[in-house]
Parts: sequence; C-alpha cells; structure tokens
Amino acid sequence: MSSLAFKPTAVPESPAGVPGAAPRLVDRYQRVVTYLRMSVTDRCDFRCVYCMSEDMQFVPRERLLTLEELALVGRVFCSLGVDKIRITGGEPLVRGNLMSLLRELRSLPGLRELVLTTNGSQLPRYAAELRRVGVRRLNISLDTLNPERFRRLSRTGELTRVLAGIDAALDAGFEKLKINSVILRGRNEDEVCDLLEFAGSRGMDISFIEEMPLGVIGDHDRAAVFFSSDETRSALERRFSLLPSPERSGGPSRYFRVRETGTLVGFISPHSHNFCGDCNRVRLTCEGRLLLCLGQEHSVDLRRVLREHPGDEEALRQAVQDSMDIKPKGHDFDLRGAPVLLRYMNLTGG
Ligand code: GTP
Ligand code: 5AD
Ligand code: SF4
Repeated sequence: MSSLAFKPTAVPESPAGVPGAAPRLVDRYQRVVTYLRMSVTDRCDFRCVYCMSEDMQFVPRERLLTLEELALVGRVFCSLGVDKIRITGGEPLVRGNLMSLLRELRSLPGLRELVLTTNGSQLPRYAAELRRVGVRRLNISLDTLNPERFRRLSRTGELTRVLAGIDAALDAGFEKLKINSVILRGRNEDEVCDLLEFAGSRGMDISFIEEMPLGVIGDHDRAAVFFSSDETRSALERRFSLLPSPERSGGPSRYFRVRETGTLVGFISPHSHNFCGDCNRVRLTCEGRLLLCLGQEHSVDLRRVLREHPGDEEALRQAVQDSMDIKPKGHDFDLRGAPVLLRYMNLTGG
C-alpha cells in the first residue's frame, strides 16, 4: 500500500506564552476547535434536490487537493489539538484511492476519531475495508424508504443499493452507525416515524436535519418546504417516547434516547435552535479552502499555502493558527429569497 510522502517537521510543544500546554486552536470567542470536516471530492453519484442543482459543474481535477496535501492538512490540524476528523464530499467514496488517505490519517498522533459521512451507495463495496482501516463510525444519508421518492429526492439514486450499503455496514461491525435524514414538508415529513423505526430496529441512531440554504438548487422554494425540528419531534412523539439525553457526538445534534428502541434520535436545527455558540469545528473544501463556518464565506486558501510552500508544515500550521482570528460568531441562514451563499453543499459535505 502506498504511503503518502511529506516532510514532517517538529510539532511545537506548546502555544506561545503557555508553557507546557498542548497547542490548541482558539478563536476570538474562546471556542476551541477540535473537529475538522474534510471534503475529499465535490463529485457524487447522486444529485439530491436540497444539495445540488440538476446540472452541476464539478471542480477540475487540478484544483482538488491531492491525497498527499489532504494528509498534510490533517497532520497539521492534529498537531494543533484537533482530535476528530470527518471525511465528507460530495460522496467521499468516489474519490480514487481514498483508503490510502484514511490509513495515513488513522495513524496521526492525537487523532481520537476518524469518521465518514456517505450516501451509502458505495458501501456494498467498501464497508468492510473502511472498518479495517480504522473508521469507527459512519453517518449514512437516507431520507425516505420509498423507492420512487428516493429517486425523486436524489434524482439519480437507487434505494435498494443504499439499503444494501446499510446492510454491509451493519455486517462490518462499526462502533456506531447513524442515519441522516433531511426532512422537507410535502416530500418526506410523513416518514419520520418509519425512518426512526428503520434505524432503531437495526440499532442505529438517526439525526433529523433542517434544510440549509446553500447554493441555487432550482427544485423547490426552501421556505415553503421548511419542516422544523420541533415539528419532526412532535410527529415522532405520537409513536415514540423521547427522553432528553446529555449525549453529544461532537457535532451539532441535540439528542434524545428513544425508549422503545434504546437508540438515539438527534435534531440538527440550524434555523430553530442555533448551535453556533458551541461551535468546535472548521471545514476544508475539496479545493483546499478552509471555511471557518458553514454558513459564512470567511475562509483561508490553504491550497495556495500548500503549493507556494510545498511540504512546509510550519507555513501551513501558521496559516491554520492565524485563521482563528476570522472565525465568525455564527451563520445568518435565511430561507426566504435567493440564497446568500452560492456555494453548494457538496463542496463542503455539510
Ligand atoms: P457527528 O455528530 O459526528 O455524528 O456528525 P455530524 O452530525 O456533525 O455530521 P454529519 O456529516 O452527519 O452532518 C449532519 C448534518 O449536520 C449536515 O447536514 C451538516 O451540514 C450539519 N452540520 C454539521 N456541522 C454543522 C455546523 O457547524 N453548522 C451547521 N449549520 N450545520 C452543520
Ligand atoms: N441542508 C441540510 N443538509 C444537507 N445535506 C446536504 N445538503 C443539505 C442542505 N442543503 C446533508 C446530507 C448529508 C449531510 C452531510 O448533509 O443529507 O446527510
Ligand atoms: Fe451527494 Fe450527499 Fe449531496 Fe446527496 S447530499 S447529492 S448524496 S453529496
């Protein structure tokens, strides 16, 4: 297996002025960044209606970070106190030779969790290998259990393939699997109980997500189909007992334990329950732009640093540290009118 080559330099022992303390990324609001979401490709075999438009232009290959560059970014973040990396896309499993990157990241000192978010379509082929390379948890997107609706929502996807992917992941023995469902009024809001039942009966957690206004999608009026987490919760409570749970996965979900299944249900509610005050994460787009917030454009071009100073870990570390000064307080998502952010979700993987 090829090992990705780069020139490591010594990791700094402590942040400036704090003798002995481990280096950390702290922003102007004293939030500590410990979680990096890394998009490894903008390509995807689906075209989900809330994520993409029908005709997408993908980033030319030379503008994508190479696997070596991605590994170096991961290494620098871990040297600065990041202990969780989530691999996203697009669909991360369509990126060539992803497993070699995962192996490289897995062995980084300080990394506690390497996790991945996928649409599930490639899991029949890759689930066992993902588990073997040390991915502990997977989040798998599934918005409906109805094959025609699935086709309508994903435009190109096939439900049976994703269900086979979920079975393959269950067989592979991950520590935890979580289903992600984006809920839209008039499309799939009548399925929230069935989705929870599906996940819970297989020992999987589930998160229900409010749609976020990224990119011009053309399919629907986002304000008109908005279905709040509180509405989802009320619908679930007609069939299930939800007990508030202090559990956190390091992401934005607020969790409840489902008495009937013993599993967790989470709500990701950027509109109705803002969670920016606890934000612990930054994201790297597949082009190497370090986005300090999903809902704002504040960013640093790490690809430029990587290509102007090839293999120079120190230059990259400095750029990452400096980026903390521009991490915004929070998003200003507004579902009415044209989206303010023209960037599509597939550049950042959410
Ligand atoms: P874990 O908590 O580790 O299980 O993952 P997660 O729920 O953070 O990650 P996942 O990739 O499954 O993302 C689920 C949804 O949460 C996606 O729709 C993301 O866009 C959304 N999300 C994650 N982080 C943020 C954030 O900082 N802000 C907003 N607005 N949404 C986020
Ligand atoms: N709003 C909310 N969630 C979205 N996702 C993709 N696009 C959007 C959007 N506009 C979700 C996917 C996947 C996760 C990474 O992000 O369904 O589960
Ligand atoms: Fe692909 Fe995920 Fe976007 Fe759907 S939401 S088009 S599966 S990247």
